[in-house]
Amino acid sequence: MRILVTGGAGFIGSNFVRYMLDSYANYSLINLDLLTYAGNLENLKGLANNSHHRFVQGDICDQETVETLMGSGLDAVINFAAESHVDRSILDASAFLRTNIAGTYTLLEAARKHKVARFVQISTDEVYGSLGPQGAFTEQTPLAPNSPYAASKTSADLLVRAFYHTYQFPAVITRCSNNYGPYQFPEKLIPLLISNALREKPLPIYGDGLYVRDWLFVEDHCAAIDKVLHHGKAGEIYNIGGNNEKTNLEIVNLVLDQLKKSAALIRHVQDRPGHDRRYAIDAAKIGSELNWQPRVQFSDGMRRTIDWYVKNQDWVEHIRSGEYMRYYEKMYDHRSQTLQEL
Ligand code: NAD
Ligand code: DAU
Repeated sequence: MRILVTGGAGFIGSNFVRYMLDSYANYSLINLDLLTYAGNLENLKGLANNSHHRFVQGDICDQETVETLMGSGLDAVINFAAESHVDRSILDASAFLRTNIAGTYTLLEAARKHKVARFVQISTDEVYGSLGPQGAFTEQTPLAPNSPYAASKTSADLLVRAFYHTYQFPAVITRCSNNYGPYQFPEKLIPLLISNALREKPLPIYGDGLYVRDWLFVEDHCAAIDKVLHHGKAGEIYNIGGNNEKTNLEIVNLVLDQLKKSAALIRHVQDRPGHDRRYAIDAAKIGSELNWQPRVQFSDGMRRTIDWYVKNQDWVEHIRSGEYMRYYEKMYDHRSQTLQEL
């Protein structure tokens, strides 16, 4: 197969590129990534001389680039490219609307024109909004996105759906829960906690810390996308999840335990506006139809993740020396000023 992977220099995309190159010796991957603040060529270290991987720096909103790649004889497109951080979307949603909605539309139109036979849209469980204490999201749960990020991903998800219904365009949608693992940008909860704890810096926990996410090791997500790519049915949606609900306080305590750091580092800071209380995925459909199950136990996955960050502190340091630190100050200085008000 010859596959266009977009956003393949980010967290999940780069893990997926490695997973596919390891799994299929005769596949060719074209990796289109704009290298925004979240894209990082260090995530693709070791692949520069791999003749089955070609990196193209470019924008999924750029019609000319996208048309050229789509016309190069592709079997499939997998769209990971996105602005992916909820907190950034609350500060300014414009890049989210551009990349997540207009970018997906550009890819869809070009893929349809060039009759690409398979399009996998990497959507998210955030399209469903927030759950109460019981139940889990199924593929039939009504869509109710709560953040600008989630609304932009829902718009893209619905565009993909509309292309299937209107043009019989052979698209499939995946909606996955929270991923964790190597190469995750340290603005996200788990890598942020690990990298701050390693430096004895405060660990910011929004509000009461009892928000729940359903965590999945990134390698399990890659295996699920592999199943959907090869066996998913056009027009279908597949939920993907770890069956592994944890509160944010459970996560921070696990990180502290493993790194043998003091709980005195924990800081309850001002909450995220519109913060979704709980996510949980019912992944029965992909289990029964495509024979996928999560394999990595949370304790193993966290041990592997923490070990990776301990061994790759240079990777984090390079990120911390760039734009990220300006974002961090903007996001967390404001939060700590209002700490007293909690
Ligand atoms: P990420 O932010 O780490 O990576 C996104 C990548 O997209 C970066 O490499 C960035 O440079 C690239 N990109 C951004 N704008 C682009 C543009 N206009 N053109 C080309 N490339 C562009 O994100 P991630 O966590 O790896 O998430 C990947 C996808 O998976 C996203 O679509 C996200 O919505 C979805 N998702 C993520 C999770 C999660 O827990 N991280 C869970 C479910 C779904
Ligand atoms: O559910 C899938 C989604 O998971 C993906 O679509 C998103 O791209 C991905 O970023 C992730 O979104 P979340 O908002 O759930 O992830 P984040 O790591 O930002 O936050 C996880 C939880 O931790 C959430 O309840 C907010 C909380 N949090 C986060 C940060 C960054 C804190 O308490 N402190 C923090 O500093």
